[in-house]
Amino acid sequence: MSNAIYPVSDEVRESALLTPSQYDEMYQASVNDPEAFWAEQGKRIVWSKPFTQVKDVSFQKDDLHIRWFADGELNVTESCLDRHVAATPDKVAIYWEPDTEGGETRTLTYKDLSESVNKFANGLKSLGVKKGDVVTVYLPMVPEMTITMLACARIGAVHSVVFGGFSPEAIAGRIEDGSSEFVVTSNFGWRAGKTVPLKANVDRALELTPADLVKKVIVLNHVDQESAVNADRDVDFHELVNAQSSECAPTIVNAEDPLFILYTSGSTGKPKGVVHTAGGYLVYTSLSHKYVFNYTGEETYWCMADIGWITGHSYAVYGPLTNGATCVMFEGVPNYPDSGRMARLIDKYEINIVYTAPTAIRALMAHGDKPVEGASLKSVKILATAGEPINPEAWRWFYEKFGDSKCPIMDTWWQTETGGMMLTPMPGVTDLKPGSATKPFFGVKPALLDNDGKELEGEASGNLVICDSWPAQSRTIFGDHERFKETYFSSFEGYYFSSDGARRDADGDYWITGRVDDVLNVSGHRMGTAEIESALVAHDSVAEAAVVGVPHDIKGQGIYVYVTLNEGVQSSDEMRTELVKWVRSEIGPIATPDMIQWAPALPKTRSGKIMRRILRKIATDEYENLGDTSTLMDPGVVDELIKGHNDLT
Ligand code: WT7
Repeated sequence: MSNAIYPVSDEVRESALLTPSQYDEMYQASVNDPEAFWAEQGKRIVWSKPFTQVKDVSFQKDDLHIRWFADGELNVTESCLDRHVAATPDKVAIYWEPDTEGGETRTLTYKDLSESVNKFANGLKSLGVKKGDVVTVYLPMVPEMTITMLACARIGAVHSVVFGGFSPEAIAGRIEDGSSEFVVTSNFGWRAGKTVPLKANVDRALELTPADLVKKVIVLNHVDQESAVNADRDVDFHELVNAQSSECAPTIVNAEDPLFILYTSGSTGKPKGVVHTAGGYLVYTSLSHKYVFNYTGEETYWCMADIGWITGHSYAVYGPLTNGATCVMFEGVPNYPDSGRMARLIDKYEINIVYTAPTAIRALMAHGDKPVEGASLKSVKILATAGEPINPEAWRWFYEKFGDSKCPIMDTWWQTETGGMMLTPMPGVTDLKPGSATKPFFGVKPALLDNDGKELEGEASGNLVICDSWPAQSRTIFGDHERFKETYFSSFEGYYFSSDGARRDADGDYWITGRVDDVLNVSGHRMGTAEIESALVAHDSVAEAAVVGVPHDIKGQGIYVYVTLNEGVQSSDEMRTELVKWVRSEIGPIATPDMIQWAPALPKTRSGKIMRRILRKIATDEYENLGDTSTLMDPGVVDELIKGHNDLT
């Protein structure tokens, strides 16, 4: 069954923007003559000074540079807003659905959205925000999230959105790394019927950052509940906005000026501030939004990802708005108040395109037919997923239940660093295989390398690299260009290294096999094992910790932790609870350990390196095949760990 192919149906073919041969032609053109291809596609967006240069790139580490449309000038909001306000002012840009089912909804037309953006842009200016300043954004999924991001873009400021599930410690780290003097937040957010104390988290974060760094905190009063006010620093969002004009001339920036920073986890050290720039990013995200979702201008579109992640940036904000799409935005979760919420929401707004994550599908699938009971789902045309491999069972369930066995599923592989989709099927073009992200998007040249850097031909498995640049590629890591070069361009000279492994089958389709570095993917959230380990060892009672990923039915990967306690500290269930709480407060609930095993010691090589391979195998019950343990400093540790694991499970 896992080799099943779902060929393009007649129905999908008839409404598709592209035929398979048109895709082939366009793809060949895009990789054979990228200059010409992107010069043409660059016209998708509004330029105040048209570019004359298209691509200026070298992937050689010693001469690394990535520039697209480098002499062009623009303001991205003219593409996302002004041109639609001129053509279709009353078209709905955002339907907002609250967490509470039946609660008050909001509808913003392009005109409404544009006016709100301009007002807030003027408000930010009045507080002293200037071009190039970094504004930290810690908001729930409310229209003000989009408004804030676009208001920053309007005045050339750089937004740095921090996912609302991150802890004060995580916010503080990002504020400091970005030297960010302004924060936009909300008193509270809603999540599954409970409030989340966003403002209190920001206040706590500011206790952890240098006292004079953050000048203003703009607070949206979203939930009718008091939160502490710091009179010197806090500004009320609505008071600020109400005093402003709804006209704000866009600040024109260079195509290569930064649009935003978004932090993501790596295999070592602190999260990295991935930088995306204005011009190329907008061209690429709008082009991919159009072709991957077969977006014709008419559809109602729902990207379920939180805007705190790259999927939300690229495909809930910049891509769709550039294309003038009508977007649904939802503050809640798909299984609250019950597992039928997602389907009811699709019916309510007659949504045509649904972009979600495999973990959400698996969580609903656990409820059998319940999630779609009584729902029509007739509006659905295209389904799509991102963020992690989708297992074939979940794929088929989604296909049958939400797509009535006729709507194609686009399994899109990409990363925070790639800015937009890299490997993906397209409606009407690609025969689908559950679990495969299939083929490259326009301009993307993937390759598989063996560990020596040799390119593999035909059917093969190896390290997934990209041979040449595409416009939405990240340009640097904020404040650490060396780390950027080191992370992506040093493993394989001349290539962008994704840190994913992949397999290419006989049809040339790609299957992502997962990270080859020490990065976990938990419910589609990317997390460095090193990050969780350093949170753990920051606890007074912990001497050492090692984290590995284990398969998890719903989350994809679960977090399995080995902890060595300090001398004299007693292991206990209370200590376990305490450490779980600790990690949640250091990083956020997404990093909650699933399992903590007490380890008298960790398996180390004589040079002191932890052998994770062994820890991974023990955590997944694969003792038979532990491989060579002779290089271990103390091979006896392994038996103790196996015993400890068996006692635990
Ligand atoms: C990592 C990137 C998709 C953007 C949001 C996540 C994994 C992503 C897929 C997919 C298998 C996938 C990879 C990648 N991943 N999409 N369709 N199939 N794996 O962006 O947080 O930067 O995570 O997510 O391992 O490297 P991110």
